[in-house]
Amino acid sequence: MGASASLAIPPSTATVSFEINGKQRQLVLDTRTTLLDALREHLQLTGTKKGCDHGQCGACTVLVNGVRINSCLTLAVMHEEDKITTIEGLGTPDALHPMQAAFIKHDGFQCGYCTPGQICSAVAVLGEIRSDIPSHVTADITARPQATDAELRERTSGNICRCGAYSNILEAIKEVAGEHA
Ligand code: FES
Ligand code: FES
Repeated sequence: MGASASLAIPPSTATVSFEINGKQRQLVLDTRTTLLDALREHLQLTGTKKGCDHGQCGACTVLVNGVRINSCLTLAVMHEEDKITTIEGLGTPDALHPMQAAFIKHDGFQCGYCTPGQICSAVAVLGEIRSDIPSHVTADITARPQATDAELRERTSGNICRCGAYSNILEAIKEVAGEHA
């Protein structure tokens, strides 16, 4: 037996149960599987995109218990009993989430690759503002943050758009902030 064969160790697997877009799901996964790969490769939820796979582009942004995270930077088995929302769970073609509708109205995308992450991030950003969570550019951290251009640009800076649709994305988020904040 060669050295490589004798060193071959089967991958460690674990069972994880979580709620994905309102449905309880259970998977047996290699413990090294990222949440992003679990969503895309095991649950066929391909709306969440893999851009850099290194936490640098935001294309893989999803909501975990209402908080946005880069799903490429977290292992699926760390999310036992978590509630995860992907772009597929925000709205449907017949009943769009207000942020999805605003992105269409304001032409907030070109190729669309970053868009699911942008929308999930934008939904979370408005949640942060409504929860009085300050950002790096909040001038007065004792006052309620406002959805200003500076605040929105700072809070969405982790979501990169190669097509440069930023100004229209900003308009879309501002519209939803005005209607619902
Ligand atoms: Fe996760 Fe780029 S794919 S941040
Ligand atoms: Fe193409 Fe953002 S719309 S990368």
